[in-house]
Amino acid sequence: MSHFKYSGPKLFVEDLSIANLAKKNKTPFYLYSEKQIKENYSNLAQNFKSINPLICFAAKANTNLSILKMLGKLGAGADVVSGGELLKAIKAGINPNKIVFSGVGKTEDELKLAVKKKILLINIESESEAKLINNIGKKFNIKISVGFRLNPDVDAKTHKKISTGKSDNKFGVSIKNFYSFYKNIKQFKNLKIDALSVHIGSQILSDTPYKKTLNILLRVINNLKIKLKYIDLGGGFGISYEKKDKKINLKNYAKLVYNFKKKLNCNIIFEPGRSLVGNAGILVSKIQYIKKGENKYFIILDAGMNDFMRPALYDARHEIIPVNKLTKNLSGNIEFVGPICESTCKFTKYKNYPKINEGDFIAITNTGAYGSSLSSNYNTRPLIAEILVSKNKFKVIRKKQDLLKLINA
Ligand code: LLP
Repeated sequence: MSHFKYSGPKLFVEDLSIANLAKKNKTPFYLYSEKQIKENYSNLAQNFKSINPLICFAAKANTNLSILKMLGKLGAGADVVSGGELLKAIKAGINPNKIVFSGVGKTEDELKLAVKKKILLINIESESEAKLINNIGKKFNIKISVGFRLNPDVDAKTHKKISTGKSDNKFGVSIKNFYSFYKNIKQFKNLKIDALSVHIGSQILSDTPYKKTLNILLRVINNLKIKLKYIDLGGGFGISYEKKDKKINLKNYAKLVYNFKKKLNCNIIFEPGRSLVGNAGILVSKIQYIKKGENKYFIILDAGMNDFMRPALYDARHEIIPVNKLTKNLSGNIEFVGPICESTCKFTKYKNYPKINEGDFIAITNTGAYGSSLSSNYNTRPLIAEILVSKNKFKVIRKKQDLLKLINA
């Protein structure tokens, strides 16, 4: 159940009126529900209970320290893709032995940091990276436990910009290349392959691509007769941004993974990001102006594409709902846009929207994942505040960036 809902005409987050929050805190700001994040985590853990996986939250989805701390306390590990994310996850109290590190371009410094911090797994994404880690192992005179990220060449049937498992994508090592790499594994004396990993894409709404991936993994493992401690199955579970989005059947997927795990007798890791935080956040913004165009009204918000990139980057549709719902319709077509000087700085379009006025507040929904973490200072705009609500209390978990500091940086 969503913890953002109307009570009469007023939108609430848990027990707090969002209009009241918007009067106390300068818009735009990200607003999260603690209960929603906790519920998402326990639902996911419950779904996969029979598998007893390590759930490594993909920190890139939301890197707010308080949110990382909260997920860490619930038992999550972290999937990180940079030295920065690695340090932030550790700062949030996540034990390094629950951290996995992915990414095609890890630098020597980042790899050394990961080795020094004794994280659970570095997921290698190329033969060259394997050589570099092996050399680091040689220098430190240790054997480094690693995973190999495979590119299974499976179409995740998602937006092409967030698909990662096709041979056309830069991620992972092809099965063919992994076979030839593995033939020479003895030369890599300072590497110990403890895991194979995959991550085929994001916002996946069907279990079919996952099923294909499991079959490919099984074939590779059986062919090579490798004994692994872990299989890291990545993340990618989609959420409903629009009513038409059918949710992925995770129960079904859990059954497939259960059987897979039984055959291989190893531990399972997942790397979910969006499914843990996506529906737990909204972006609250004020209507700055309403401008009549030739064919539509432009509803100009104080939030821009620098604050929330998904519509501009992926043509993502995020429903926008009024914080105070009135009944009369606005005549004609409307389009919500932001202030940035780019034509792609626009959000959702509507025909017949509840009456809204300049100065009203609206909420861009489902922005808890890849919202704040993808934001930027474009147009020299400060990063906006993030607020967390728990029942009838709110806390600013990241202050709005100081404009003067930004100017003088
Ligand atoms: N593991 C790896 C190695 C990843 O690259 C990703 C996401 C995840 C896990 C988490 O995937 P999730 O469970 O959140 O789908 N900015 C895009 C999404 C990019 C995802 C990149 N990798 C968006 O806003 O849709």
